[in-house]
Order: sequence, then C-alpha cells, then structure tokens
Amino acid sequence: MANVIDSAINSNNIVWHNAAVTAAERRAMHGHNPCVLWYTGLSGSGKSTIANAVDRLLFERGCHTYLLDGDNVRHGLNRDLGFDDAARVENIRRISEVSRLMLDAGLIVGTAFISPFIADRAQARALIGPHFIEVFIDTPLAECEKRDPKGLYQKARAGEIKHFTGISSPYEAPQKPELHLKTTELTIAGAAAQVLTYLEQRQIICALDME
Ligand code: ADX
Repeated sequence: MANVIDSAINSNNIVWHNAAVTAAERRAMHGHNPCVLWYTGLSGSGKSTIANAVDRLLFERGCHTYLLDGDNVRHGLNRDLGFDDAARVENIRRISEVSRLMLDAGLIVGTAFISPFIADRAQARALIGPHFIEVFIDTPLAECEKRDPKGLYQKARAGEIKHFTGISSPYEAPQKPELHLKTTELTIAGAAAQVLTYLEQRQIICALDME
C-alpha cells in the first residue's frame, strides 16, 4: 500500500484542479476571514479548554469554525501514531495539512496539540502562511503536574509512560508566538477574550458593535 501511495506522489499522473469556487466567494459567504489558531503547550496546560472556549464564542457570533484536538484526532486519523519523535513529527505534519484544507474551506480552525518541536511548528507556519496564528498556552510544568487532570504526569514520573512531554521528552517553547497566554495569570474566559480581541484586531472577524 505504501508503494502505491509513494509512486502516485512521485509520478506525473496527478494534476492539480483549480477550484470553481474562489476563496473570496467563500469569505463572503462565511462573513469572516479564515485562519488557523495553532495552540501549543504542555499536556494539561489548558490548550483544549481555552481552544473550546474560543470556539464557543466564535460559534455564538455566527463564525464557521472547527477544532482539531490532539486527544480526539489520535482516536481516529492519527490512531496509528505513538509519541516518539518521528510519530510526533508525522502527527503535526498531518494536522498541518488537514488545517490547510479547512482553511481553504474558509473556516476558523483551532488546533490543540502539544506540538513540542519548533521545527514542526515552523513547517506548519510555512505551509499555512500568513493565516497561521501561534497561540502559546504558557503553563509551567510544575503547574501542569499539580493539575494533572488525566493522571498522566504521575504515571510518567513512575516510568509507566515513555517519552512524556516535559518529563522524558522535550517541549520547545515558542520564541515569538502571535499570542502568549500565561494561564497562571488569566481566567479561561479572560484568555479566550484575548484571542477574540486579537482576531478582531487582525480583521479576521468583525468587532462587535457596542451600541
Ligand atoms: S503531540 O506532541 O504529538 O502534539 P498530542 O497533542 O497529539 O501530542 O497528544 C497529547 C496528548 O496525548 C496529551 O494531552 C495526553 O493526554 C496524551 N499522551 C499520551 N502519552 C503521551 C506522551 N508520552 N507525551 C505527551 N502526551 C501523551
């Protein structure tokens, strides 16, 4: 099977089709610009919680959104992947490609994956282009470990989980994220509000009329 896929990619037998519906037409129909909100942070940092809070606010404003969440995607599309370095690279490569398709469809896409490596996030940024918005969910390891919502840090410390991010596998923090949210200083609602304000400032969504 792998050979069939490889040879298709490397042959001259696949031709790009131009779309009949343009990006501008999709924008007009959706009533907002598309983007990819790329949340990154340690396990238990609050990525999914904040991404869901943002998704809810956008949905209530009538935006067309979709959230790709690490734990959920690993139940389906990426169920064949583990957590060694190569598997994480492939996880993020697939998510970058899926987000780009959803971006093409005109959606505001959220991706909540640890995405621990700077190089992989840089590749996602290169693929997605100016619509890529990196959101660093900055929660110190000690705090994530204290929260330990899934009991995974305890297991990782006991040596029951291999390659656990922050314990036995690295996390490379973003150097210049578009948004840097320090969860020890913010409520969930406050963090979500900052994302919405940023999207308004970038004119991805319209500011609410306060009158
Ligand atoms: S990523 O590093 O490849 O981006 P991803 O976000 O998809 O990771 O999945 C992380 C989630 O998988 C964690 O929130 C946790 O629930 C679970 N998990 C299971 N094993 C590990 C591990 N070894 N390291 C990190 N997370 C793990």
